[in-house]
Amino acid sequence: MANKAVHLPVLNLGATLRKDNWWVGPATTFVILTGFIVYATFRAFENDYYQVGPYLSPFYSPLIPTSGWGIPFLSPAMLILPGPAGFRLTCYYYRKAYYRAFAMDPPACAVGERNRHRYNGETKLFIFQNLHRFALYVALLFLVILWHDVYKALWFRVPGSDETTFGVGVGTLVLALNTTLLSGYTFSCHSLRHLVGGSVDSYSTAAFGQLRHTLWRGVSRLNQNHMLFAWSSLFAVAGADVYVRLVAMGVIQDVRIL
Ligand code: FES
Repeated sequence: MANKAVHLPVLNLGATLRKDNWWVGPATTFVILTGFIVYATFRAFENDYYQVGPYLSPFYSPLIPTSGWGIPFLSPAMLILPGPAGFRLTCYYYRKAYYRAFAMDPPACAVGERNRHRYNGETKLFIFQNLHRFALYVALLFLVILWHDVYKALWFRVPGSDETTFGVGVGTLVLALNTTLLSGYTFSCHSLRHLVGGSVDSYSTAAFGQLRHTLWRGVSRLNQNHMLFAWSSLFAVAGADVYVRLVAMGVIQDVRIL
């Protein structure tokens, strides 16, 4: 029997038969992402309160001094933020989130969308999204730097001396939590999953097949929680910056645990 073509009705933007609160997800995404972008932009221009004791804000790491460049408003954060920003902007999960929240294309499943006939996929304006795998390489580099920052956050200056001593402060834990969640986000990446386990017909005969299969299984397990890592790491990186900023401003005191 020949298949009959199914013609779905064209819905106007927001039109739907859904009875649930489908708009809560995109609206929450819109508020959180907008808030993060505004805060990160403010911090990039503030160019202050990013370092205190052994702690360095992740917004300013790696710290590349820009004071001698003679460019007004240029801060170290402006040099490095395009790296992590590009990673999130091209992330497969975040694409879904911002297509729904910002472009409303579509706003949710089975809800009328904007631009029904003008969707071009990852071409034209959105062709940069194909660069995600390269953004991943940059993100992996950033992880090495951020873990080094966590290590440095374990060494506190001895008062009245140039020597340092091992210790753990609340700030150390804040930076470690942030880097742990960023690692979860990076190691659960869809592109990384393809990088370690893709393009293989048979793991048993491929070069490093056993190793690749083990890595692929590990990334696949993390990948199931990619959305969770995406959001928790976003809050963690902003939270780590807020913590360093408040301590640097003297609003709160860091507490030494060890
Ligand atoms: Fe989300 Fe790669 S798919 S970080």
